[in-house]
Amino acid sequence: VPALEQEAENATISQGVVESNHAGFSGTGFVNYNNVVGSSVEYTITADQGGEHELTFRYANGTTADRPVSVTVDGAGAQTVSFPGTGAWTTWQTRTAKVTLKVGANKIKATATTANGGPNADKLTAVLVGPPDTEAP
Ligand code: GCU
Repeated sequence: VPALEQEAENATISQGVVESNHAGFSGTGFVNYNNVVGSSVEYTITADQGGEHELTFRYANGTTADRPVSVTVDGAGAQTVSFPGTGAWTTWQTRTAKVTLKVGANKIKATATTANGGPNADKLTAVLVGPPDTEAP
């Protein structure tokens, strides 16, 4: 099963801007979340199998304060994912979360929960990790 992924700069951004001034990102840039509660990046992952998936968020956080985000799938099942400091804005690391995806388009929204906003967001990857519960015909 191939990895499903979307670059943050191609996702739906609310209260954030695409930038490219810190090296090491994939694609053409990354999203700099505005430093406010509620800034968000909504990725679309189109799965060909439903079931439990591991999400991998690639990010950088050049501060020493965690930048947690609330992750939902199609607006439901909120879980908080921690994005601690990576040491520099050019040092990119990953954090993971497990979610259930359905066959077809899934809207995975990562919303900042603190006044610092989210981390700089590079991309999201999803991989099926459980038995598929449904398959596309
Ligand atoms: C700096 C950095 C940005 C980052 C911002 C922040 O301005 O250059 O890439 O997004 O800090 O604290 O969110």
